[in-house]
Amino acid sequence: MAKQIGILTAGGDSPGLNAAIRGVGKAAIHKYGMNVIGFKDGFRGLMQNRFVRLTPEELSGILTKGGTILGAGRDKPHRMDVGGSVMDMTDLMVEHFGDHQLDALVCIGGGGTQKNAFRLAEKGLPIVTLPKTIDNDVWGTDTTFGFDTALGIATEAIDRLHSTAHAHHRIVVVEIMGHNTGWLALGAGLAGGADVILIPEVAYDIDVVAESILKRRAAGSTFSIVAVSEGAHTGETRGEVEYPSLDHIAGEGAAAMVAELAELRAALRGSTGRLSQALEEMTGLEARVTILGHVQRGGTPSPEDRLLATILGTAAADVVEAGISGVMVGVRNGEAATVPLEEVAGKRKTVPLDHPWLATARSLGISLGDRGEE
Ligand code: F6P
Repeated sequence: MAKQIGILTAGGDSPGLNAAIRGVGKAAIHKYGMNVIGFKDGFRGLMQNRFVRLTPEELSGILTKGGTILGAGRDKPHRMDVGGSVMDMTDLMVEHFGDHQLDALVCIGGGGTQKNAFRLAEKGLPIVTLPKTIDNDVWGTDTTFGFDTALGIATEAIDRLHSTAHAHHRIVVVEIMGHNTGWLALGAGLAGGADVILIPEVAYDIDVVAESILKRRAAGSTFSIVAVSEGAHTGETRGEVEYPSLDHIAGEGAAAMVAELAELRAALRGSTGRLSQALEEMTGLEARVTILGHVQRGGTPSPEDRLLATILGTAAADVVEAGISGVMVGVRNGEAATVPLEEVAGKRKTVPLDHPWLATARSLGISLGDRGEE
């Protein structure tokens, strides 16, 4: 009998999500004759049983589109905001999965989604996940779709900032997303020729950054581009936001804590502005800030992301047909490979300190804000 599968996209959106939905859906329908539905807005749609039937028509013409036709959301199944109260809604989700007589649920998302999907797998649901995020920080996969597109956008932004920084003899500090990892800032910084690259994995010293800019100045360069990851920090004022588990709190307490965390996050967001101001004061050079923000997540996916999302999406349909679940379909050496969800959930892939990109940056004389290069 033909299998029934559900798909949802959770977490922040990223380029390539539609390509992945299309890959899973088309392969499921054309290769295996499966019936496919999509839940709206991530886990919330599963909880509320809001879904659409994904027919070949629905899956057509979406390959190049940004965002997700299903909608996304950062809800966690075990901590859903339901009418102002925070509740564990996993059982209702399991019930809705059963109502549709699904054989598998394909959850497409980043690190948080892998964790949330694993929770549903622990409840007995046959789950298959795919890794997407512009941050490239999902454990157990060489890369994630969304990353390449964002890398292109951030690199182009740095390219454009060069000419204006040069014209005004300024320091331009460009903040790049990446959550608590530096893949995006390091990759774009290298590809765009930034003079300083600051990432969360390497704590920076503001004196070292200022010195490197003054050294450039003394050597005749009248401008500098500082590519800073949103999670970069000085060590003492560690930027990393380790969100405490709110699992044990419900109702108003949780809401207050979430509000406090949002404030903390907002304060951290201002840190790039403070970095720029400090550099201006310490070097005597004019500085400006550019925060790339969600521009990095929008628009058409790059060919590489379309390809990756399509390869992994179709592989997910094969995995479902084979009756395998509790796995993420990631990529290893250019090929789709399954990794047990329990190995992926709760881990983050940071930039290793011996990564060749870091060595390359140091060889070029790019300052990473530490004294490592001296
Ligand atoms: O995880 C993707 C990402 O864009 C991160 O780089 C960033 O820190 C975060 O999402 C922003 O989330 P939101 O869109 O919820 O503000």
